[in-house]
Amino acid sequence: MRYGQPAGYRPLREAIAAYLGAVRAVHCVPDQVIMVSGSQQGLDIAARVLLDPGDAAWIEDPGFHGARAALLAAGAKLIPVPVDREGVDVEAGIRRGNNARVAYVTPSHQFPLGTTLSLSRRLALLKWASKAKAWILEDDYDGEFRYAGRPLASLQGLDGEGRVIYIGTFSKVLFPSLRLGYIIAPMDLIDAFVKARAIVTHASSLMEHAIVADFINEGHFARHIRTMRTLYAERQAVVREEAKTELGGLLDLQSDEAGMDLIGWLPPGVDDRVAFRQAAAHGVEVTPLSAYSFERQKRGALRLGYTGYKPTELRQGVRDLAMALRGLKSRV
Ligand SMILES: Cc1ncc(COP(=O)(O)O)c(C=O)c1O
Repeated sequence: MRYGQPAGYRPLREAIAAYLGAVRAVHCVPDQVIMVSGSQQGLDIAARVLLDPGDAAWIEDPGFHGARAALLAAGAKLIPVPVDREGVDVEAGIRRGNNARVAYVTPSHQFPLGTTLSLSRRLALLKWASKAKAWILEDDYDGEFRYAGRPLASLQGLDGEGRVIYIGTFSKVLFPSLRLGYIIAPMDLIDAFVKARAIVTHASSLMEHAIVADFINEGHFARHIRTMRTLYAERQAVVREEAKTELGGLLDLQSDEAGMDLIGWLPPGVDDRVAFRQAAAHGVEVTPLSAYSFERQKRGALRLGYTGYKPTELRQGVRDLAMALRGLKSRV
C-alpha cells in the first residue's frame, strides 16, 4: 500500500525483459524496463527527456497523431518524413532534417499504412542516428500480431550503440483501459527516464503491475496472445472475403497479414474525408488517411478496424460500407 518504485514493480519489469527478449528480440535487462501508463505516456516522457524546445524531430507521414502531439508538446520542430512500401524513407529524412535529435518510427507495422521497415532502411536509420547522435523512438504497438510468417525482430535488437528507445504497450495485447506500457531505455538514459517518470506520476499503481506480472509468469499472457492471433486472423479473413464480393472497384484492401486494422485505397480522385462522412452516415466507423497526414497523399484511403467485431457484424459492416461508397462513386 506504500508508494512503489517510479520505474514500476520489479517482478513485472523482470517478466517483461524476459518476454521481449524471447518474442521481440529486444536486448535488455530488467533495470532498463521503465513502466509507464500506456505508450502515450512513454512518448510524452521520451519527448520531454530527449528534446529541447526548437529541436527537430522526424515523424512518419502519414503517422501516429499521438506521437505528433507528444513531440509538439515538448516544443519539437516536426520534420514529416514520407513512407513508402519499405517503410519510412530514411534518405528523405536525412535530406529534410539531417540534424534532427529524434526520429519517431513504427518499424514492425507502420501506423497507419501497415508496411514493415526493410532491413536496408533499418540499417540506414541506425547509421544515421549513430552519425547524427540522434535518438530513435521505436513504437512497437502491435508487433505481436502477425498472421503469416514469423514475428519480426525489433529495431532495438539491431542497435549496437544504445540509440533506440523502445516503447511497448499492453493496450493491444491485453486491453487499452489497463493503461500499461513500458519504455526500454538505453543504459545511459535509465536514470533520466526514471527521474522523469517520478516527476510525472511519482509511482505506478502496484496492484495492476502485480496482477500482470502473475498473468505473464503463469503462462496466461502467451496463451492469450496465441488465441487472439488466431481470432484476429479469422476476423481479417472475414473482411477480405466479404470485400471480394462487395467492395470491388470501390475500395482496394491492401494485403497486410498483421495488426488490428486494414487500409483500403479509394479509387483515384475520391476524397477520403468525403468517403469517411458518407460511411458515418451509413453507420460505419472508419478513419480517413488524410487525418494522419501532413502532406496530401496521392490517393485517398480508409483505415478499417476489425478485431473487436463478430463475423456477422463485420459482414454487415462491409456491406454498409459498400453501399456508402457506391453512392459516392456515382457522384464522382
Ligand atoms: C501507433 C500507436 N502507438 C501506440 C498506441 C497505444 O497507445 P497506448 O499504449 O497509450 O494506449 C496506439 C494505439 O492506438 C497506436 O496506434
